[in-house]
This record gives sequence, structure tokens and C-alpha cells, in this order.
Amino acid sequence: MTEFSTIYKLSLVAVFCLVQACSSSCPVLECWFVHEKGRGGLTSGGNQEKTLLYISTDEHGHPAESQRAPSDANPDRVFFITDPAGTLCQPSLNRPSGSAKKSQCEINPFLPHPSDLKWVAALTESTLSPLYLQADWFTTSHQDSKQQRTISSIMRAPPGAKEHNVILSVTSTTINVQARLGEPVQLDCSYWVDPSSPLSGSGFAVEWRYQFRGDGRLVLAYDGKMDRVADIQEEGATLDFEGLHEKGNASLILQEAKVRHSGMYICTVYLPYLVAQVAVELEIVEPPTLSIYPSPLPLTVPGQTLIVQCEASGFAPLSLELSWEFKGTDGKSRPLGSGSVTGHRQAWDGTFSQSSRLELDTTNLDLGRGGEVTCVGVHPGGTRRASVTLNVIGFSTPSVEDSMAMVGVALVLYGLIKFVSWTFTSSGPDEADEQHKKKN
Ligand SMILES: *[C@@H]1O[C@H](CO)[C@@H](O)[C@H](O)[C@H]1NC(C)=O
Repeated sequence: MTEFSTIYKLSLVAVFCLVQACSSSCPVLECWFVHEKGRGGLTSGGNQEKTLLYISTDEHGHPAESQRAPSDANPDRVFFITDPAGTLCQPSLNRPSGSAKKSQCEINPFLPHPSDLKWVAALTESTLSPLYLQADWFTTSHQDSKQQRTISSIMRAPPGAKEHNVILSVTSTTINVQARLGEPVQLDCSYWVDPSSPLSGSGFAVEWRYQFRGDGRLVLAYDGKMDRVADIQEEGATLDFEGLHEKGNASLILQEAKVRHSGMYICTVYLPYLVAQVAVELEIVEPPTLSIYPSPLPLTVPGQTLIVQCEASGFAPLSLELSWEFKGTDGKSRPLGSGSVTGHRQAWDGTFSQSSRLELDTTNLDLGRGGEVTCVGVHPGGTRRASVTLNVIGFSTPSVEDSMAMVGVALVLYGLIKFVSWTFTSSGPDEADEQHKKKN
């Protein structure tokens, strides 16, 4: 009996916790309501209003009418959103307003419309219930730069209703991607459709576009209704088609990263009359390869000026700092400056090269017997070094240590000579005496 009641209590607690978690774990999101997209935007203050989004993963999770919304909030600027997939239910989307990196959120009115695009048009060929489209539609976009997450969703409220349901959401968990040259690259994008919506199951289309400095082009377009790649403009670009149909995984795969792949990629998902998109930035970062000429360095005599060249090649982006260092036989390193750095050149594969020329004046620089000359390249992809050995022969002026050593050696030699001559002079007569005695 007591066991039963304990289990009963425990399960009650568990249920209570679960209910609490469901209703309270989703944050209230602060958003900017922008009346007309394109006119104004986030920069001009006039056209936007602060809006609160209450998120719940099920319809009954919203608080009762009486406890809703702070009284000072404009009731028109409070949204109750049901998001069964929980895409918007991320604590990281609601950063405290004091934190350095605020997440961004924008909400706009949305008008469902058919698309003329070749790979999308087929989605709206058959007549759909126009009644379903006659509703209140909004689109939201969230960016959480700390968590590397960006979400765009389309929400619908039936006429007269206060609650909105997420119908379509597109997410990327890689806002910024860095890749080395030649590596395979994956740009994350996934989508979710409300399975209870009449728009679900009537096909979809996915499109990836590339954008760089105002220059845009199509990468890949996929017609999900006909299950075919409608267009492909980038060699080696592909999707995981199985994952796309089964899990809504629309990630773009680039077989081999090239310098020209750096830029912005936009993942767009189309449903009949609906469209949502997220943007991902790709940067190809490749550190330089350094080499020093001439190598090895010729033997150098004091007073000679030696010219050393450091060539950095195969790097991207064009952001490199070249400098020189010298490490003497005493093990101490000291900077020799940046030398004279040349302009850059670009190779066929888009990578850059640049070099630095160093004049090593062995009279002005206290290089001693030589040491190690190092070229240092600091690049966003990492720091690289290349070294050569410098040998200076025949000193013109001996160092203090050398002079001391010479004096020492001279003293020892002098002492030795003195000692030897003393031994001989003092033992000489004795031996003579002995011989003299023997003879006698
Ligand atoms: C999406 O597909 C890519 C490529 O096959 C895979 O690496 C990735 O793990 C998939 N993502 C998810 C969330 O399944």
C-alpha cells in the first residue's frame, strides 16, 4: 500500500514536472513587427513595433485569457503561437536584453501566392481549397548568432482566431561555416511542415542560391513533387535526397571546397503558395605555405648584406601579415620587421600569393656567429613559419666573451711555459750531479 502511494506520488510529480516543462520551457520571444518589408526594414524606426511571441508546443499549452500578456502591451502586438515541432521553443532564442549578442527576430505579414519558378509552378497547378488560404498569415525570422541557428517560419491563424499555428519552418544550424580548400562542405538546412495542413503532402521544392557582393546565381533546384533535380549550376553540388523526403533534410553538400565558393547561400523551401528561406555564410579559409629563398643561405662574412625572400602561397582569404625573426646562438629571438612586402597575385584556383624581401645587413645587426632566420605568416587560417640557418664566418671584432677567453688562454699558456721551464731549470743541475756521482 505504501509502495503504491509512493509510486503514485512520484508519477504525480513527474506528470506535474512534464506539464510545467511543456508550458514554461518555451521562452517568450521579443520581436520587431515590420509592417511592410523592404520599405523601412530594421534600420528605420518608424515602421516597426515591439511584439511578444508566446510559444507553445501544443494548442492547450497557452495560458488562459485572464493571465495573458502584460497589461501594458498592445494586445495586437502579442502573438500566441503553437509550434508542434518545437522549432521556436529554444531558450537560446530569447537572450536577456543586456547580453552583448542579442538574438534578432522580425515578424511580417505574409501573403500566400503561387510561384512562377519552373520547379515550383507545378505545386499550384491543381486547385487547392482557397478557403484555407483566407486567413491571417505571418512570417517570422529568428537569428541566434551565438547558437549558430537561424529559423524562418510561416504562421497561420484562422479568420477571427487569436492563435497562430506554425505551418512551415525552415532552419539552419550553421549560420557561419568555415572550410579548408578541397574539403567536402555541408551547409545545414532543414524544414518542417505541419502534417495536418492541407498544403502538406501536395509536394515541395527546394532551391539553393549563391550570393556574393550583389552577384547572385542558382546553385541547385530540386522539384520534390516530381522527385527530380530541375536545375544544377554548380558542379559537385548535391542534396541527400532520401533524407530530404524522410526528414526534411535539405542540407547542401559541396563535394570539394573551392575559393570561389566563399559567399552567402540561401536555402529556400517552397510549399504550394508558401515560401520560407534561411541564409548561411560560407568562407573558405586556407593558411599559406611559406618558403624561403635562397635556401640554404650562403656563408656570410661580416659586413656583407644578404637578401632573403619569403614566399607565401596558396592562401585565402587575402589577409596575411608577413614578418621576420632572428634567433641567435644564445637562443634569444628578436623581430627583424616585416621586410618589404610585395603586392599579391591570384592563382588560377583563386588562392593568393605574396612575398616579403628582407635585407640582412650583417654589420648593423648584431648577428654574432649567426643563427636562425624565420619568416612568420599570420593568417586567419593559422600561423605558419619557415626558417633557414645563417652562418657568419670570420669575426671582425671579437666579442667581450671572446676577448676574456683569449686572455684566459694566454694566461694558462704563460703559466704552463713558466712551469715547464722552471721544472727543467731546477731539475737540470740535480741530474747532472747524479751522473757526476755515478761517474765518480
Ligand atoms: C542531413 O544530411 C547530411 C548529408 O547527408 C548529413 O550529414 C546530416 O547529418 C543530416 N542532418 C540531419 C539532421 O539528419
